[in-house]
Amino acid sequence: MKTTNYMEDLIKSVRKFTESKDSPPLACVHSFGCQLNFSDGEKIKGILMTMGFGFTESFDSADIIIFNTCAVRESAEDKAFGIIGSVKHLKEKNPSLIIGLCGCMANEDHVVERIKKSYSFIDIVFGTSALDELPKLLLDIFNGKKRAFDTTEYNKPISEQMEIVRDSHFKASVPIMYGCNNFCTYCIVPYVRGRERSRNHNAIIAEVTKLVEDGYKEIMLLGQNVNSYGNDLSDGISFSELLRELNKIDGEFVIRFMSPHPKDASFELIDTIIQCEKIAKHMHLPVQSGDNEILKVMNRKYTIEKYLEIVDYARQQAPDFSFTTDIIVGFPNETEEQFNATLNILRRVGYDNVYTFIYSKRSGTEAASIDDSISYEEKSKRMRTLLALQREIAIERYKRFIGRTMTVLVDDECKSTDGWVHGKSNEFIIVEFKAPKELVGKFVKVKITESKNWAVIGELID
Ligand code: 5AD
Ligand code: SF4
Repeated sequence: MKTTNYMEDLIKSVRKFTESKDSPPLACVHSFGCQLNFSDGEKIKGILMTMGFGFTESFDSADIIIFNTCAVRESAEDKAFGIIGSVKHLKEKNPSLIIGLCGCMANEDHVVERIKKSYSFIDIVFGTSALDELPKLLLDIFNGKKRAFDTTEYNKPISEQMEIVRDSHFKASVPIMYGCNNFCTYCIVPYVRGRERSRNHNAIIAEVTKLVEDGYKEIMLLGQNVNSYGNDLSDGISFSELLRELNKIDGEFVIRFMSPHPKDASFELIDTIIQCEKIAKHMHLPVQSGDNEILKVMNRKYTIEKYLEIVDYARQQAPDFSFTTDIIVGFPNETEEQFNATLNILRRVGYDNVYTFIYSKRSGTEAASIDDSISYEEKSKRMRTLLALQREIAIERYKRFIGRTMTVLVDDECKSTDGWVHGKSNEFIIVEFKAPKELVGKFVKVKITESKNWAVIGELID
């Protein structure tokens, strides 16, 4: 990690360039992918702000555009390359425009090669743990270097010094750890985000305390595998202990986290969630497949029986406990029977929401070398079957709330219905109701009247 003085000197040097302009140059940071990546985007904006940049949402008015990319599926990479290609003409019109690429794709060798060869209009490239190198890379460009890359290292210690420009004024993401040690055979993340590194618990508690003081109502703790939090620290505390400490912070707020790994999900974690009043009674617990043989080839390190023990334990203690999950459809050579086992898991658990992905081959992962006999058409068909089933399950599950009053954090106005807003219940279920937009960012009580397959509908209680 670079010393504070070294960073400060670099930031000062960049400021000389930004302050020499009539008005602050504008940065556009465009993030793709998961919440961890968006959280990195907020840090990148923090660094840009300390260097004297202002912000814009539009590519056309930007002096620097940074694409913070996702590598989890091929479709995410294609989307990123598509959007990046669409700004090439801006660079042709304005050669002083700086274009940067960072995030998970910047740690993939084949992507870096492609950028070097075919995307000469990209000026700077930096990997997932090189965010604090941005001032150095920018300075290189300001000093006349043609292109600046820092993509080799992805295991650096965590810097606690960075400023953050938050995207929301009432919902905050707080990474508690970075990286992943699990090497699920389909997943690129351990290769692009390095090994698990946990943040110091005092730094996390201080950050959350400050956020609550500043009026934040939802704190989302983030990590690739949050329940291994602290395993890499000699003076650390466990994830459950961390949750109990955060629960002690005074104020009106809800604590969420994403994502735990089923192999490390324990009864103790469930007890903690149920006993701590500020922790949402919801767990996003990615099951990926309902078949033990597939789970083994995926290297998931749990069986469906072990997974169900956790679900059943939670539901015994709190019958409304909400589970959501991730499913990969069409893992190489997944049989019809194995796919049916996944459908059965959906029925058995009764998820409130399911995020479904068609398997995407990621070069460098173990599963990429498996010859696959299942066609893309078949995989798409299975995906549609699964989504249709989940819609039926959701509409039935949500009926449990009809006639009851839910506490809802209001997220935004409804795009489709004037005068309506939507928010999330404690169980992470979407709630739609008629209310003024001034309630956005506040907790309100809503009486549920109807169940849809994507949300519940209700009436605001004064
Ligand atoms: N193909 C499809 N889905 C994937 N995921 C991770 N890697 C892949 C892949 N190669 C999904 C998993 C994970 C979620 C974040 O993305 O379901 O839980
Ligand atoms: Fe995408 Fe995964 Fe990287 Fe998040 S960690 S940005 S989902 S590849």
